Amino acid sequence: MEKLVIKGPTPLKGEIRINGAKNAAVAILPATLLIDGICTIDNLPHISDVLLSCEILEKFGAKIKWNTKNCITIDTRNVHTTKAPLDLTSKFRASYYIIGSMLSRKKEIEVGMPGGCQLGARPVDQHIKGFEMLGADVTLGNGTIYAKADKLVGNSIYMDIVSVGATINIMLAATLAEGTTTIDNAAKEPHVVDVANFLNTMGADIRGAGTDVIKINGVKKLNGNATYSVVPDQIEAGTFMLAAVATKGNLILKNCITKHLESITAKIIEVGGVVEDYGDSLRVYCERRPSKANIKTLPHPGFPTDLQPQMGVVLSLAEGTSIINESIWESRFQYTQELNKMGAKITAQGKTAIIEGVEELSGSPVYSTDLRAGAALIIAGTAAHGVTEVYNLQYIDRGYEDIEERFRSIGANIERINEDN
Ligand code: UD1
Repeated sequence: MEKLVIKGPTPLKGEIRINGAKNAAVAILPATLLIDGICTIDNLPHISDVLLSCEILEKFGAKIKWNTKNCITIDTRNVHTTKAPLDLTSKFRASYYIIGSMLSRKKEIEVGMPGGCQLGARPVDQHIKGFEMLGADVTLGNGTIYAKADKLVGNSIYMDIVSVGATINIMLAATLAEGTTTIDNAAKEPHVVDVANFLNTMGADIRGAGTDVIKINGVKKLNGNATYSVVPDQIEAGTFMLAAVATKGNLILKNCITKHLESITAKIIEVGGVVEDYGDSLRVYCERRPSKANIKTLPHPGFPTDLQPQMGVVLSLAEGTSIINESIWESRFQYTQELNKMGAKITAQGKTAIIEGVEELSGSPVYSTDLRAGAALIIAGTAAHGVTEVYNLQYIDRGYEDIEERFRSIGANIERINEDN
């Protein structure tokens, strides 16, 4: 079993380059199934969810050439099957994008019920509603989703809730449909925009991504023959910003889109940190104990749920009592029990966590309960006094490239150890 051993406290200092966005990459890779041609994707984070996506594409008949660690060329001219590898697609959440892509390309697809982090119930009713409104029949059963259509025809679809996954999936399905599809109450996250930009670069006609109305004019074919660079990761950037604040450090983040970081920047300033915005880079520092703050997670441009645990670490160390309201996922406070092992004082019930700030955290063995919880525990370990051991690294490796090397490069005393050796 692998663990990260962190000796703290260390203020994180220096410069770090933000990688391509995980949540954009895991949608763009299945989106290549829409292309009858060859395309190159650059700035791809080298994380296990991306490697798994590539493995799934290869099972469909795609040919993938790794140009560098973060750049691949994909040839999707010979997509030959309509049945996804059920064991692989059940392993992570984003495999549901295979449905939208393959419905578009082949009008038929069967995938294993999408897995992913256990953040509570993760329904797919809005995805299914969208596919059905485009003319597909969708059947759920035996741990699989089967979708089939004679043809897909554009429609006006109003989303009952704002869903990133459903918005992207309907966009994928509508790209090669006949006529125009309108998605109302669409998600506005940066990765929704990035997938639309990718599809447009390859020949699609999608307008309005980033607003709550997206219009997709169906086209006959995507030809590819282009290179696309994945957008910088908003959540990775936010993770390092909060790591700087929690450790009273001073970090320069290169290659980020500061506009995507406004809600997190506002909270950092509210707790007493400083954020200097240089357009495509920023400096974050905090020279004093953070102040309390209240957080409510919301769809973009609100405070992202995927930064809630990392913010929870900052508030654990703040002066005063803070309240977090988690409005997206019902089980996103599992990390608070681990933080309490390190001396935090958090009471979580239902959608609310009450955090009584403590002066310091102390090292302890802790277990990642999901991807972002794992990132939060690394930040906590770096800020804490003594030795922290973080277990369940498989979650963290799903979404952060070379996590320990990157933390080490900004001063953390962190090592990955295989306990079996
Ligand atoms: C994506 C992100 C995830 C992030 C989440 C919210 C990826 C791969 N994952 O997940 O990291 O935490 O956005 O920003 O991009 N819902 C329904 N019915 C549906 C779909 C969703 O009720 O058909 C609900 C969910 O239970 C949740 C809310 O809508 O309460 C938002 O979910 P959604 O935006 O779809 O999240 P994901 O796309 O799964």
